[in-house]
Amino acid sequence: MKINGQQQRTIWEKDEMTIQIIDQRSLPHELVIENLTTTQDFMDAIREMHVRGAPLIGSTAAYGLYVAMREGLDPKAAVKALKATRPTAVNLAYAIDRILPTLQSIDNQSDRMQAALHNARAVTEESVVDCRKIGEHGLTLIEGIRQQKPDKVVNILTHCNAGWMACIDYGTATAPIYAAHDAGVPVHVWVDETRPRNQGARITAFELKEHGVPHTVIVDNAGGHLMQHGMVDMVIVGSDRTTRTGDVANKIGTYLKALAAHDNHVPFYVALPSSTFDWTLRDGVAEIPIETRAAAEVTHIQGRYKDQTLAVQLTPDKSPAINYGFDVTPAKYVTGLITERGVCAANEEAILSLYPEQQ
Ligand code: MRU
Repeated sequence: MKINGQQQRTIWEKDEMTIQIIDQRSLPHELVIENLTTTQDFMDAIREMHVRGAPLIGSTAAYGLYVAMREGLDPKAAVKALKATRPTAVNLAYAIDRILPTLQSIDNQSDRMQAALHNARAVTEESVVDCRKIGEHGLTLIEGIRQQKPDKVVNILTHCNAGWMACIDYGTATAPIYAAHDAGVPVHVWVDETRPRNQGARITAFELKEHGVPHTVIVDNAGGHLMQHGMVDMVIVGSDRTTRTGDVANKIGTYLKALAAHDNHVPFYVALPSSTFDWTLRDGVAEIPIETRAAAEVTHIQGRYKDQTLAVQLTPDKSPAINYGFDVTPAKYVTGLITERGVCAANEEAILSLYPEQQ
């Protein structure tokens, strides 16, 4: 995707020693490029959300493992430390567990490094291809809605940022939106601000603006009202972990959007690559680990004032706050899953018909 008309990814190799990322904490007001050179840099970048979004967390961890091998760390210990940075997005484990047995079987450090680098590149390129295909499959759904209301704009609501900034390119929830916009289908996006970190207001709005997609930022509580008044044709969100039965963990507040969509007969789609499925789980509410982050993200809010980024306090001194990062939407509220292999219903049989190797 593009920033200021320039092709850009969220993570890339600067040289053998340095991986570069966009430090997303500064968006949308500043574009800050950060160098990651040590394993600690990668762990800090994931934990402190310089990078965020399930597929991008996966790629960053995979490059972090490469740097850990360069530093001569034990593969198992490095994988364990990287996996401890953020608990909910399963893409993190997916990206590094898959290479661990190979790393453990290699004696020579230089060969271990090369294997880890090869894995990081593969995870990254696979994500780009998967997101592009999600866009193609999701486009068909948007075109279907457009056919039911010719001459009218298709209004899509999204929550958080499941855009290209959460991935490497295209995004998951945004990929069908970009595909539709590029194909000339008129779309407009309702962007939930997504408290407390405001990924919608800061990052999704930024992406859509850069790509020229019409959009409107709304407070998180507005979605139900818009749906009651026929102003939302479909919801598309991303996922951090989806069970084999179709339960979906995504940014806190997603569940409430699904309930409102269900009550108003608005189709609720989840866009995700196969790296976001946790094939070991069946009951999302009971089994998916939900990250709890610092209360300061709730008690304070970050914004721009006279060229300076500031955090200001919202709540009374000493009022306790709690900050759950994600919630789980049960499969029964999900109209369909948009994957790189096609669209399916959110149930085990339909999911396995797309992924028979996971039987
Ligand atoms: O806490 P974040 O910003 O990492 O949460 C991101 C989300 O919840 C996204 O919707 C999800 O990772 C899907 S990304 C394509």
